[in-house]
Amino acid sequence: MSLAMQQKIEIAADKPYPVYLGSSLEGLGEYLRHQFDDIEHILIVSHQVVADLYAQRLMKGLQDYRINLLIVPAGEEEKSLDRLSRLTAEALGHGTDRKSLVIALGGGVIGDLAGFFASIFMRGIRLIQVPTTLLAQVDSSIGGKVAVNHSAGKNILGAFYPPQAVWTDFSTLESLPWEEVENGLAESIKHALIADGDLFQFFENEQKPIKHRDCLIWSEMVTRSSLVKIRIVSQDEREQGIRALLNLGHSFGHAIETEMDYRGITHGQGVSVGIVAAAHLAFAKGLMTSAEVDRVIALLNSYGLLTKIKGLDSQNLLHKMQADKKNQGGRKILILPQGIGQALVTKECSDSEILAAWKQVLF
Ligand SMILES: NC(=O)c1ccc[n+]([C@@H]2O[C@H](COP(=O)([O-])OP(=O)(O)OC[C@H]3O[C@@H](n4cnc5c(N)ncnc54)[C@H](O)[C@@H]3O)[C@@H](O)[C@H]2O)c1
Repeated sequence: MSLAMQQKIEIAADKPYPVYLGSSLEGLGEYLRHQFDDIEHILIVSHQVVADLYAQRLMKGLQDYRINLLIVPAGEEEKSLDRLSRLTAEALGHGTDRKSLVIALGGGVIGDLAGFFASIFMRGIRLIQVPTTLLAQVDSSIGGKVAVNHSAGKNILGAFYPPQAVWTDFSTLESLPWEEVENGLAESIKHALIADGDLFQFFENEQKPIKHRDCLIWSEMVTRSSLVKIRIVSQDEREQGIRALLNLGHSFGHAIETEMDYRGITHGQGVSVGIVAAAHLAFAKGLMTSAEVDRVIALLNSYGLLTKIKGLDSQNLLHKMQADKKNQGGRKILILPQGIGQALVTKECSDSEILAAWKQVLF
């Protein structure tokens, strides 16, 4: 996937930063030398599997720097205070100081964990996001949110901490297992549904090359999907308004994930069922036609994403939604699609309407 030309897109934030799409891992060093004249030491934080595949390519360009590679075991449970504390000890052992740079080389777990570490180590050291999963490239590396989990909930301890840059090399996606691709596809289709009807059509028309990982089509898919996120976070960095649209499908999806204790369902599958539930609710509210709901279901199905789920109870799921941290004053805040390519935030859904939507996706 090295055919793509590099594109630089600036995120308009309090502290603007560039996203480089279609860049090469080997090229990051030259960028750093050009951009910063006071960096001597770099900490690369990664998973073993990702480091085995890509650290050498990245380090080829970083020969001028003193490098330490910190390996974090894979898994969501590693986004923890305990891991943060171990990273801190390791970083200090390697002489990390205020001028050091952190490179987060991996998926969303590494991006969130290493990003949060960078945000608080010595009150903040520089960070470059190098996303290597589809989800991280189109979603989690963009927008500056970093966090770890707590027993009280996911991403409870976190910050808005914009990186110096996001450095995206599409070729890293070649090794991504299909289950991980699905997680990213669910978010990418969500981006299309909330903000880009043409991208939705692209997903409908290009199913075959997408499933065969055609490099040009994947470059276009990642670029167009990233652009949706870039556009949204550039308008609303701190999630005071439009950024909430990115949560489409997530209130329903999180309820499913927590009800199932995060076992036997991936995040992407949960979000996918959640998108369908939101589409049914949108139909009931007159925001979508039944033909549009059918298009959403057909598209998700065609990529092997779940559109219904077995053996769960609608009342329990409704109850789980009450704990959603986005709720206000006891009212559920939901994101609903408005046709294909637009969405809105609403407080105006009654429990009986939400229950009816749940029933459409349960069997
Ligand atoms: N900060 C945000 O705005 C934001 C947004 C969405 C999700 N997230 C977070 O992202 C996390 C999920 O991220 P994810 O889906 O990328 O999962 P992940 O980071 O756990 O990566 C999934 C698996 O793929 C492996 N992997 C990564 N890149 C690979 C590659 N190129 N080839 C082969 N294997 C590779 C990883 O080692 C891991 O085992 C969650 O913690 C979620 O909360 C954050």
